[in-house]
Amino acid sequence: MFTENTSYVVLLLDHIKSNRYETIKKKSFLHLRLVFVGILLTVHLATSNKLVCHMTNWAQYRPSSAKFTPDNIDPFLCTHVVYALATINSFNQITTIEWNDQELYGSLNSLKNYNPALKTLLSVGGSVNGVSPFISMVAKPEGREAFIKSAISFLRANSFDGLNLAWEYPGHNGSPPQDKERFTLLVTELSKAFEDDAKDNKKTKLLLSVNAAAIPATIERAYEVNKIALHFDFINVMTYDYHGHWEPVTGHNSPLYRSSVDSGSKLHYNINSSVSYWLTLGAPADKLLLGFPTYGRTYRLSASADGLGAPSNGPADAGPYTRTAGFWAYYETCDFTNSATVGWISEQEVPYATYGSAWVGYDDKRSFSSKVQWLTRNNLGGAHVWTLDMDDFSGSFCSEGEYPLINHLRMSMGFGPKPTTTPRPTTTRDPIGDFCRGRPDGLYENVADKTSYFQCFQGNTYLHRCQPGLIYWDSCKCCNWP
Ligand SMILES: *[C@@H]1O[C@H](CO)[C@@H](O)[C@H](O)[C@H]1NC(C)=O
Repeated sequence: MFTENTSYVVLLLDHIKSNRYETIKKKSFLHLRLVFVGILLTVHLATSNKLVCHMTNWAQYRPSSAKFTPDNIDPFLCTHVVYALATINSFNQITTIEWNDQELYGSLNSLKNYNPALKTLLSVGGSVNGVSPFISMVAKPEGREAFIKSAISFLRANSFDGLNLAWEYPGHNGSPPQDKERFTLLVTELSKAFEDDAKDNKKTKLLLSVNAAAIPATIERAYEVNKIALHFDFINVMTYDYHGHWEPVTGHNSPLYRSSVDSGSKLHYNINSSVSYWLTLGAPADKLLLGFPTYGRTYRLSASADGLGAPSNGPADAGPYTRTAGFWAYYETCDFTNSATVGWISEQEVPYATYGSAWVGYDDKRSFSSKVQWLTRNNLGGAHVWTLDMDDFSGSFCSEGEYPLINHLRMSMGFGPKPTTTPRPTTTRDPIGDFCRGRPDGLYENVADKTSYFQCFQGNTYLHRCQPGLIYWDSCKCCNWP
């Protein structure tokens, strides 16, 4: 898409470096504009190149327009999609949770027919009778071996590109202290087995990632960071759930910095402290992905104060779609903010909203932008989003288009225009349905309307639209400035 552009810009940057800026100044305004945008793209591309999006297999049970399945995923929105959640059975083998997981795996992985660059990972975690199944699995070498073997064949059989470990957390919630070392063994053995599998079967190596703790004390107790970090392709630092209705005063779900009401260990309950700690322990910056929540955490105010640190007593009412007291999806919050008073917590660079006794600390486009600036400054490997299904994925709630938060995140990170804005090509089949009959798979210009173009896939015709302001160029098979 923007690769053409980028190499052009790199060329011009070389000119700048060799003091030939004069020649550039003479170029047309259009070129300069491309250079400026291109420089931004190039700088971002060099550092933050992953946008990993989680989806949950329980979002299929939400009512009406909040019901979410992999068919709702825009195949060009994220670089990676993580399917949550699978678990581990009593034989230490990876296994499904929902009755229709296998079918949903199929729909998710068929998105790669539209975007072959998309990578998918299966996340394993959860709990069985209240305890993590990781605990007994990691305890013995045979347990780990059975798990690893089952994971490789399961991922391959279901066309996943990798595995995501979602154990919350080694050394916590019934897991003994020695699980910190056992987790290192598991990760080391998994990484080795993935290498061997790739070599033996001449396949692309499976990816390995982890959903990792954000609170320094938890990190310290759970991980041998310097021993595990290199084995992961990326580490999803869960930089959210810092504060919630379990506390006696309001606090933000995912603040960038400490606030003046924080004290004691709460001084570290923020993104800046969490990621700094991971870096201090030796995690390479480019392995770390910053977590972006598409939900907020709610409180019920118990006095007249309604700012940060205001007395509260439990959660606000459950959202009508997520139906769980304590958090609201972005598409529930955007409705609330129509009537609520919205505030900006400037020291933490995040918004909150309050109406009556309800209070929510959430994320919007502005806070996502602040966090992208932070992750870019710190050369992190990119972003991960919890979750696709809590953004306004259909665009039917917030009047901001489909996936307003994640599309904004994508754009802020410097990714180029998407080749499509239509998430489900099968349902957007163009009336000129015969265009692709007999044509090879690929992209074709729509002579009748330059702001759109055709994608042919297996003889079927799909009409895609460029982002506003852009038109399709067949020379680069991409949308670009007119
Ligand atoms: C962010 O973290 C760094 C490293 O711990 C610290 O030096 C800095 O003061 C923090 N910034 C803010 C605004 O809290």
